[in-house]
Amino acid sequence: MGRTGSEVRVVADSMELGRAAAEEFARCAEEAAARGGFSVALAGGSTPRELYTLLASEDAPFRARIPWGRTQVFFGDERPVPPDHPDSNYRMAREALLSRVPIPPSNVHRIRGEDPDAGAAAREYEATLRSFFASAGEPRPGLDLVLLGMGPDGHTASIFPGSEVVREETLWVAAPWVETLRSRRITLTPKAINAAARVVFLVSGAAKAETLRAVLRGPHRPDVLPAQVVRPERGTLLWIVDGAAAARLRS
Ligand code: 6PG
Repeated sequence: MGRTGSEVRVVADSMELGRAAAEEFARCAEEAAARGGFSVALAGGSTPRELYTLLASEDAPFRARIPWGRTQVFFGDERPVPPDHPDSNYRMAREALLSRVPIPPSNVHRIRGEDPDAGAAAREYEATLRSFFASAGEPRPGLDLVLLGMGPDGHTASIFPGSEVVREETLWVAAPWVETLRSRRITLTPKAINAAARVVFLVSGAAKAETLRAVLRGPHRPDVLPAQVVRPERGTLLWIVDGAAAARLRS
């Protein structure tokens, strides 16, 4: 087990990581659908592409298990680019998954990264989340599933080392300046992430092995390693990591 009772599941490689994540996604979707509907925040970056491709595949056992008509898709973060830009998290998810499954377009809630006023886009996205959960009589952003990646520097979503978002306790969505990127990002905050029923990190590759060890086994210092700020209040946390990323975990 990892920090604070989180579960760490080590799989052989990135292909197995995709399959394990797809199984987890389908299981969460089935359970949530039995309660009325499934809400998920997708992760950005490159790691989830294998997962998204598998979820959409007619040749894999996951697509048919997911109630696409009752699935609401949100995003954990977005870059300051238009939706058709190569760096767009939305574009990657659309290409690998959303354009290939029968999800109603109105069920896909995109962060408007193209807005030159990132703060306004963050406030708009928060309003979207608040409206969605208010309609369900929920005062909290209780997503059924939040998918996250982790960078080699320990960032997650777009919560980077030294970011004021690490300590954000009110907002559900923020638009921090990221000095290392010399740009703003739009991101779910710890409050939104930690309200989820299930949070699943997907971590692959040797480049993240030391950071993963520090996050899971080292001292709690989320300002330095923002992934440590992810501690679901009532939900559960699962790390699905491949052998290369887990290399420093084995004592
Ligand atoms: C982003 C992501 C970010 C990502 C990590 C890991 O917009 O970049 O939200 O948090 O998950 O940087 O990225 P990779 O999967 O590409 O390693």
